Amino acid sequence: MEFMVELDGVTKRFGSFAALSDFSLRVKPGEFLTLLGPSGCGKTTALRLIAGFENPDAGRVRLAGADVTALPPYQRDMNQVFQSYALFPHLSVEENIAFGLKVRKVPRAELRERVGAVIGMVALNGLESRMPHQLSGGEKQRVALARAVVCRPKVLLLDEPIAALDAKLRQAMQLELKRLQRQLGITFFFVTHDQHEALTISDRVAVMNAGRIEQLGTPVEVYQRPLTRFVADFMGQVNVFEFSNVSDGGETKRLKLQRGGAELVVPRSAIGARVGQGMVTLRPENVRLLTSAAAEWQNVFPGVVRERIFQGAFDRLSVALDNGLELTVAIRPSEDNGSVANIGEKVWCELAAESLVVIAGT
Ligand SMILES: Nc1ncnc2c1ncn2[C@@H]1O[C@H](COP(=O)(O)OP(=O)(O)OP(=O)(O)O)[C@@H](O)[C@H]1O
Ligand SMILES: [Mg+2]
Repeated sequence: MEFMVELDGVTKRFGSFAALSDFSLRVKPGEFLTLLGPSGCGKTTALRLIAGFENPDAGRVRLAGADVTALPPYQRDMNQVFQSYALFPHLSVEENIAFGLKVRKVPRAELRERVGAVIGMVALNGLESRMPHQLSGGEKQRVALARAVVCRPKVLLLDEPIAALDAKLRQAMQLELKRLQRQLGITFFFVTHDQHEALTISDRVAVMNAGRIEQLGTPVEVYQRPLTRFVADFMGQVNVFEFSNVSDGGETKRLKLQRGGAELVVPRSAIGARVGQGMVTLRPENVRLLTSAAAEWQNVFPGVVRERIFQGAFDRLSVALDNGLELTVAIRPSEDNGSVANIGEKVWCELAAESLVVIAGT
């Protein structure tokens, strides 16, 4: 079996509205795959189609190589964890976790052993006899998770399972989920609209927009090498410059920017042979600040710092370049001890050629 989950050309309409259009995705066994996208882009719909709660208008759904498009949810070897924990309020922690195994008539000794092991895995020891209303949000979430994994499904579907937790607890749960997934070797199909979460937790990320996948890749790929403007914007702050002319420079190509008249040099390999216009993107942390520069240096532009905002690990600067372009720059405060790039100061910004990502125009 090559793929654990396959969506093949799936379209799902609600009335005349297509929530998913010709949607295809293949998830490998043991992979942690995340669907990432803005509210309403079709993430939950994709997950419900895999689980069998919705039927596609076109296309096929396969699980471990078998076509399950026509099968009801209970005949698909999957489990779900939703944002609302949906614990049984009248059952204890232990009984909640054991529920699925009881339904499957797992022998008593095995049931006890499996429940005990999972309780240890999600660090719920000592809380076995508590009732759901006696638990914190994070603890309830762990029970929901334990209840799903104890049945050892081939695939675990997780729809924003930790979105309701506070930031600190969410970070802890992200690491825990990742660890649990590695330990169990179960395929995780995870849904979130939080890009940081997706980057932290996933083996691969499918970035969605309006019922389609814009890009599928590793966290590093979708962050550092976005294929579209939407992906570049959605994955975090980014500088975008439009260019409308390309000239050849041997090993490099020169892109003439529409605003500012400046030229950016990129490696020849960064741009397709016939591309004549498009966009160049650059993450703020990939701009290098210099205190001086020689006139012949490539991709180095003088400007004045207009704004400097403290953001924890980074300071975010807005630099007005002399050529009219605005540049967002992120630097570690320790890089200049707050002395070089203060508001009003002159700086040189290096847009390192290897960090520039070209998105071809249409
Ligand atoms: N049962 C339904 N009937 C009609 N429209 C629906 C139905 N379910 C979903 N939709 C629409 O389909 C689109 C996709 O919905 P979906 O719930 O998949 O989005 P989502 O990406 O999960 O969003 P969120 O991040 O807000 O959860 C939305 O525009 C939604 O309004
Ligand atoms: Mg949703």
